[in-house]
Formats: sequence, C-alpha cells, structure tokens
Amino acid sequence: MTATIKVCMGSSCFARGNNKNLQLIQQFLESRGLDGEVELTGLRCCDKCSKGPNISIDGTEYNNVDQGTLLDILEKHFKASQE
Ligand code: FES
Repeated sequence: MTATIKVCMGSSCFARGNNKNLQLIQQFLESRGLDGEVELTGLRCCDKCSKGPNISIDGTEYNNVDQGTLLDILEKHFKASQE
C-alpha cells in the first residue's frame, strides 16, 4: 500500500502553515513506520492560495489545513487504508 501526499510549497501556503505541516507529516510517518510507504512531494503554487495551506492525499484535496486538522486527516486516512 503506497500513498502520495502532496504539500503545496508555494510561498503563500508555506508561510501560512505548510512549513510546519510538512514537519508534522514527516514526524507522523516516521512514528507510524510509514515513511517508506508514502511518497511525500512538494507542489508549486496551484493558484488556490486563498484556500491555503493546501495539501492533497491520494488525490483528495484539503484546504485551510492547520496542525490540528492535519493530524485528524492523517489519522483518518492512514487508519482507513490499513484496515
Ligand atoms: S501557494 Fe499554495 S496555492 Fe498558492
């Protein structure tokens, strides 16, 4: 099972939270032993800055992602995909 997480690294999303979100994702994947199974990539600005910070997981887009919602998203996504 592999998953792809894409994190917008455009300046708006990065400054509004994706710098910290990226670290949180890396910590989450490492703590679950998932870092080898998940492809983590950065994206350029996708012209949705007003909805940012933007992240997508396996094609599902999440907007206004802060650290609290990000953990919920990761928990749900990776719990569901492991069952
Ligand atoms: S910087 Fe992320 S959508 Fe523009």
